[in-house]
Amino acid sequence: MIRKAVLPVAGLGTRCLPASKAIPKEMITIVDRPVIQYVVDEAVAAGIRDIVLVTHTSKSAIENHFDKHFELEATLEAKGKQELLEELRHIVPDDVNIISIRQPEPLGLGHAVLCARPVIGDDEPFAVLLPDVLVDDDGLAQNDLAGMIAAFEATGRSQLMVEEVPWERVDKYGIVAPEGDIPAAGESAPLAGVVEKPAREAAPSNLAVIGRYVLPGRIFALLAETPPGAGDEIQLTDAIESLRSAEGVDAWRMRGQTFDCGHQLGYLEATLAYGRRHPGFGAGFRELLARYARTE
Ligand code: G1P
Repeated sequence: MIRKAVLPVAGLGTRCLPASKAIPKEMITIVDRPVIQYVVDEAVAAGIRDIVLVTHTSKSAIENHFDKHFELEATLEAKGKQELLEELRHIVPDDVNIISIRQPEPLGLGHAVLCARPVIGDDEPFAVLLPDVLVDDDGLAQNDLAGMIAAFEATGRSQLMVEEVPWERVDKYGIVAPEGDIPAAGESAPLAGVVEKPAREAAPSNLAVIGRYVLPGRIFALLAETPPGAGDEIQLTDAIESLRSAEGVDAWRMRGQTFDCGHQLGYLEATLAYGRRHPGFGAGFRELLARYARTE
């Protein structure tokens, strides 16, 4: 069973300024909760019970969001605001642990994941979720991460979530080369290679790695030996390429829809998607959307 997930949240979020000047970009609100809560919910829905945040001194608001707030709870209790109190008490289920560890220097995503080594250990597989990307699983019986975990458990092979991106954006992503046919949505297939942020002319496909990974503990030893790569950072993609040449890695073609919350239009689109179907605000929000569409 895969029970642990690493969420690298140490990045300073310069793409989200000015919103992320005094709060972590992961704490920006989509409808009624911060981005990070959607990502933690996704992990929990896939069976994860230990969430390892790899974080930075300036981002303690993330840990606070998942911690008990005794004074606030006491105030709500005294005021008889039972419903709100229950919601705050169950931001994560009781059997979920939020663990945090610091990334002391911004040396890249690979280095951030390596910082979680003392918590995960070298013998246990784990998931990685990058909180820049929201994965909407609306209408699916099982989210993509749960599908990737099931595929890992059935085959023992690492899984990278991929989707097609426009060719002019391949230099923003890890890009995979499928070994044979491109897998259908909700299926995985072996890779012939994965490369971080290739130039368009050098990209082996337009299938991009979209911030969800299921990896073995062996990746830590590979990360520890990985030199700086693209952008002079220690890249997770480079360690995964070493893993692939040693034992094979699969690409999981996602079924859900993604929102790139690393930039403003992504936040706005996520707000539209989640706001429209919110159980409390959805009806009012749909009216607003109709009204604003008419005034175009
Ligand atoms: C990271 C990864 C990259 C991946 C991307 C989107 O890049 O290094 O391989 O495709 O996330 O999930 P970043 O967006 O941090 O530059």
